[in-house]
Amino acid sequence: MPGAIYAEGLVKTFGDVRALDGVDLDVPEGTVLGLLGPNGAGKTTAVRCLTTLLRPDSGSAVVAGIDVLKDPDAVRRSIGLSGQFAAVDEYLTGRENLQMVGRLYQMKAKPAKARATELLEQFDLAEAADRPTKTYSGGMRRRLDLAAALVVSPPVMFMDEPTTGLDPRNRQLLWEVIKQLVSGGTTLLLTTQYLEEADHLAHDIAVVDHGHVIATGTSDQLKARTGGERVEVVVHERDDIQPASEVLRGFGKGDTTVEEHMRKLTVPVTGGAKLLAEVIRELDIRGIEIDDIGLRRPTLDDVFLSLTGHLAEAKNDENGKNDRNDKKEAAK
Ligand SMILES: Nc1ncnc2c1ncn2[C@@H]1O[C@H](COP(=O)(O)OP(=O)(O)OP(=O)(O)O)[C@@H](O)[C@H]1O
Ligand SMILES: [Mg+2]
Repeated sequence: MPGAIYAEGLVKTFGDVRALDGVDLDVPEGTVLGLLGPNGAGKTTAVRCLTTLLRPDSGSAVVAGIDVLKDPDAVRRSIGLSGQFAAVDEYLTGRENLQMVGRLYQMKAKPAKARATELLEQFDLAEAADRPTKTYSGGMRRRLDLAAALVVSPPVMFMDEPTTGLDPRNRQLLWEVIKQLVSGGTTLLLTTQYLEEADHLAHDIAVVDHGHVIATGTSDQLKARTGGERVEVVVHERDDIQPASEVLRGFGKGDTTVEEHMRKLTVPVTGGAKLLAEVIRELDIRGIEIDDIGLRRPTLDDVFLSLTGHLAEAKNDENGKNDRNDKKEAAK
């Protein structure tokens, strides 16, 4: 039986940009899928297709047991969505915004009011509740938008980069809210550029790049694919690279990589801290002075880098654009 969110072969093109190039997803009920990918990978497009805001060129999707293409209205009634850019009414207060959402979902005035108060507190917005939202900071809008998505608790939720623009404290706060939500049985698809967030919240991760899902698995499974633990050594003298590499060859389970300019050597190992101690002893015996040494386990960053050949948390230039979007715009 397909999961609470299921997609097969989703394709969406904009002109000659293939934003989605055959995306398959299957999210079991009550779990969190982290859709991870760099700028322009197709995350928002996937969310928009699954939430009926965009019609895919081809492919199919079933959300909460309902066919997205055949019955978009019913899908909309069964999902909650918090978009990448906060959608709040500037002229209403935070409280009014939340109450309005409740009324849109046919809640009675009294429960809508109570729910609004509860959420304003949960998202640390109680003090600002009765100010028009145009006076809110970016992080406050973001939180209000997330609260709005939670006014009713739909069985399936989509959150597009929910914590982008939040400070660490508020990010933590949102993680707690999300965990509560999921422990109540909600299925969640969340997109993120923060590997730590996917690691922390997602049961499964789908890595997206160029409109394709290029890998899926739990965080641990993805890390295991990248290889196990490694010893990293930074030697003090450039001349020590060669002898150090001979030492490492004796301990390594594979080839040593050398980054000359950083005087850094990396070798895959098994044996953990005990082995690390032996490596240090051997380097010491040979009189090789080291600036740094450590045991590294792969992070999701490593996974991402090895899968896509580039880092996930891509830095935008000062115009807030990124390379790939720039290329697209140049092509216009
Ligand atoms: N409405 C549109 N018109 C034209 N091109 C679009 C449109 N929406 C998205 N694209 C293009 O489709 C590709 C995927 O965009 P999408 O917004 O899905 O990426 P994303 O993974 O959400 O990126 P980000 O991390 O920057 O939010 C990009 O090349 C983007 O420029
Ligand atoms: Mg996006």
